[in-house]
Amino acid sequence: MKVHADPGGSPPALDATQSRFVANTWASRASSERAAALRFERLTNTLRASQAPQAVVDLAQRAVVDERRHIGLCDGLAAHFGWTDPPLPPGPHAAIGPPQASASERLLYEMVSSCCLSETLNACMLRAILDRALSPMIRDTTRSILGDEVHHARLGWLYLEHARHADLGEYLGPLLPRMLRGIGVEHIGAPDPPGWDGPSLAAWGEIDQAARLAIFHAAMRDVVLPGLERVGVPTAQGRKWLASTTESSQPMAPSA
Ligand SMILES: [Fe+2]
Ligand SMILES: [Fe+2]
Repeated sequence: MKVHADPGGSPPALDATQSRFVANTWASRASSERAAALRFERLTNTLRASQAPQAVVDLAQRAVVDERRHIGLCDGLAAHFGWTDPPLPPGPHAAIGPPQASASERLLYEMVSSCCLSETLNACMLRAILDRALSPMIRDTTRSILGDEVHHARLGWLYLEHARHADLGEYLGPLLPRMLRGIGVEHIGAPDPPGWDGPSLAAWGEIDQAARLAIFHAAMRDVVLPGLERVGVPTAQGRKWLASTTESSQPMAPSA
């Protein structure tokens, strides 16, 4: 695993506009953490009811506690950088998966999408924050959250392995473009807002559009798709979709 040495130094002072960008980032992250806590709460119950392995249920239960802790950390950082509005409500957290699929297929789809894809991407984004942030407060919070998100990704891989032993999961192959599009590509590819000062903001952990796109591509190409291939999930359609999207600074076209 890559070692993230403390880059040292202190970040430049932020003006009101740049500070608002940082506050927005952590308020939005708190909203995602709220959604994740609710999703894992529901998934824990569904996994238990479907007699998933106890190790998987335990990890899901632990994830609920982790995500609740992350909400407080992220709200705290947002407030520190000047967020004064009420906390943003949770992001989408309803069950996902193709409506025509069976209940067990939908559960597997959601576990793979939420854990193997989203949590892996989440961990990669947090590593990127650690690589650039000089602010000790942001580094400490990021480090503290990162360790948990790695466990949440592991939960998905563990459940997928269990499903593959039961010969489930091959059907995910043709659904991979749908799944890849569903993990927030519109946010990842969103242009940087007017007034964005990349170098100053990087020292405060902010990731610009081009870097977000590169991180997304690398995470899917180098971690997620090889992981799926290792357990025999066909990835040709996922790879084709990924290759059809751009790593450049243009928003990703949601091609089929
Ligand atoms: Fe989290
Ligand atoms: Fe998580």
